[in-house]
Amino acid sequence: MSMSNSLTEIFPAESSIPDQYKITSYLEQREYLIDGELKMWAGDLSPVMSPIFIREGNDLKQKVLGSTPLLNATEAMKALDAAVKAHDLGKGMWPMMSVADRISHVENFLSRMREKRHEVVKLLMWEIGKSLKDSEKEFDRTCDYIVDTIKALKELDRHSAKLVEEQGFMAQIRRVPLGVALCMGPFNYPLNETFTTLIPALIMGNTVIFKPAKYGVLLIKPLLEAFRDSFPAGVINIIYGRGRETVGALMETGKLDVFAFIGTNKGANDLKKLHPKPHRMKAILGLDAKNPGIVLPDADLTNAVSECIMGSLSFNGQRCTALKILFVHKNLVDDFIKKFNEEVKKLKCGMPWEANVNLTPLPEPGKTDYLKGLVDDARKHGAKIMNEGGGEVLHTFFYPAVLYPVNDKMKVYSEEQFGPVVPIVPYNDINEPMHYVINSNFGQQVSIFGKDSKTIARLIDIFSNQVGRININTQSQRGPDSFPFNGRKDSAEGTLSVADALRVFSIRTLVATKASEDNKQIISTIIKNRESLFLSTEYIF
Ligand code: G3H
Repeated sequence: MSMSNSLTEIFPAESSIPDQYKITSYLEQREYLIDGELKMWAGDLSPVMSPIFIREGNDLKQKVLGSTPLLNATEAMKALDAAVKAHDLGKGMWPMMSVADRISHVENFLSRMREKRHEVVKLLMWEIGKSLKDSEKEFDRTCDYIVDTIKALKELDRHSAKLVEEQGFMAQIRRVPLGVALCMGPFNYPLNETFTTLIPALIMGNTVIFKPAKYGVLLIKPLLEAFRDSFPAGVINIIYGRGRETVGALMETGKLDVFAFIGTNKGANDLKKLHPKPHRMKAILGLDAKNPGIVLPDADLTNAVSECIMGSLSFNGQRCTALKILFVHKNLVDDFIKKFNEEVKKLKCGMPWEANVNLTPLPEPGKTDYLKGLVDDARKHGAKIMNEGGGEVLHTFFYPAVLYPVNDKMKVYSEEQFGPVVPIVPYNDINEPMHYVINSNFGQQVSIFGKDSKTIARLIDIFSNQVGRININTQSQRGPDSFPFNGRKDSAEGTLSVADALRVFSIRTLVATKASEDNKQIISTIIKNRESLFLSTEYIF
């Protein structure tokens, strides 16, 4: 449906859901993975609510999908003990294993994971409201990421296989694991973003505690057995429960060597502070962002609108890389808004499994109230809702609100809305959007739309010291996954890409010696007789 129909039609009756996407039984999960064993939790459970409501006569009832274990600090500590034991101060089977053998464990996991595509995709739709197309894309992109990670590791291994000679020294430099890693992902990409840290952490030889995201939790269950069967005991441990209780306890032990987290900078800081020796814990963080789109007076309007629509509203604006504020030059702002609204109107609202659907319900409890609050605040300070039906709400569904003219008094000017609210700021002088980027607390990406090479070049040079990626006539985004993905200021710590992630979860260690005849003899004997795993010139194809 489009907005010309009433929002009341948006939620389905059970009978109208296609059979292959129906969830007919309550999914009570009690299993969690510790030390190679699927344990059954006898304690409290946390209900899993879908953002989707079901029509029953004149009523709408929110679908309860099932529940997950509400583990406590004691269970979290058991997961940590298992990971610490499997690491065994670097002497464990996993960190000592050859790269080729670790790769075969991950390959085994991947083939088991592929068997679960339908189940995981279905849960992505029901748990976080992601469209079928995007859910399938998330699953397939994750599988491709694993394949590419294996390829990149083989390449890294080939490079590390050679000995180097420098200033009378001979050395071999290799990457080795850091220790025990905690990996936590976000609800908007509960599979993909989590696995972009989890898989590199594992394949580099770290042992891992994985805590699924806030929403998009049940979708990990179909993979639990594959995790259990594909890795030695204790190498991967999967826990559930309240972050404060479980993760806080883990941090306080000081036994975590790596912390991979996608979420808010406040959350990351609160947790990092709990580690008694933060310098011993390497953090890789994907955090808040408020990426601006800047539309210059000579921009190709059709392209700018189409990229800004995708940039601000794909997956309802719930992407860390989304365009979250648009600066549009006064000369074309009226035309821009007119065209933008026409395109918003074409976006199909509906359930995730419906063909060509774009706008779907939002999974975070209280989110539509928060977005309504942002819109009300903007209106109080002089903005108008520019599109028909903008800001209309039905339970978890929020129809996109295009706000104009937005100014710095409004919350939506600086707060990350992470939802379908599109603030448009008119500008005359390019210094206005430039200062916005420079003075922002965030520094992930920016998109510039225009044609004049000199203006674009100047902005590139200014922004290259402010953000991690500058997009020209293109929406902001993470992919391709071989590109570095990072951010400045409050937006990130560390850089991820297929190849970078392998570096992030490892440290270079070298064996070096003065290149005397005696030393060369020792080195050569070790290599010839294959006496060391580290000091070796063998590599995998
Ligand atoms: O939420 C942040 C994601 O990493 C964004 O990825 O730009 O490919 O949607 P994407």
